[in-house]
Amino acid sequence: MNQDQLKQAVAQAAVDHILPHLDSKSVIGVGTGSTANYFIDALARHKMEFDGAVASSEATAARLKSHGIPVYDLNSVGELEFYVDGADESDEHLHLIKGGGAALTREKIVAAVAKTFICIADQSKLVPVLGRFPLPVEVIPMARSHVARQLVKLGGDPVYREGVVTDNGNVILDVHNLQIVNPVELEAQINAIVGVVTNGLFAARPADILLLGTPEGVRQLNR
Ligand code: A5P
Repeated sequence: MNQDQLKQAVAQAAVDHILPHLDSKSVIGVGTGSTANYFIDALARHKMEFDGAVASSEATAARLKSHGIPVYDLNSVGELEFYVDGADESDEHLHLIKGGGAALTREKIVAAVAKTFICIADQSKLVPVLGRFPLPVEVIPMARSHVARQLVKLGGDPVYREGVVTDNGNVILDVHNLQIVNPVELEAQINAIVGVVTNGLFAARPADILLLGTPEGVRQLNR
């Protein structure tokens, strides 16, 4: 199985996991990226079995709408049973690095609201220690240099992601060469820098379930 087939398999497993819990009033939180796209495509086959979705990015909203799935503003939704999204890395505690697609802030907001966060990924994303994937940090544009200097003090090598503007009108710094042994602490430290909107560590609110695509089948890890 190639990587795309593994992503498709976990996307289908996530649909199979949530379907028994859905009814005509259910609204589902949907993430961003290639694995989340496979999830949207698989979910669309059951669009008569739930109400609609909240999207974590403009790209995801467009894909949901292209399938005829209603997209709601998060502020108009009382309750989200599930949030389903990919990740760039996960450790065995389901602490994640996200934001490779620059959608980390909205992803973190939707994940915060959801009762159950299901992360879907191929097996290459499971790592012993987070940090091989550069940590994305969303930054208010005028604070870019200040935030970069503070990130250097924390031991990282921040690189400006040229040409990328987030859905919120901000920029991204990708922080290389971090060995993230305490993700909860580092997430809070980076978020405390003035000018940071949020960073791509999902540790204070990790995933609840990780569905991992492997050639032997889908593995489920629980927090
Ligand atoms: C988007 O900003 C990210 O958090 C994605 O969830 C992450 O990059 C995973 O993307 P893939 O499913 O394309 O690997």
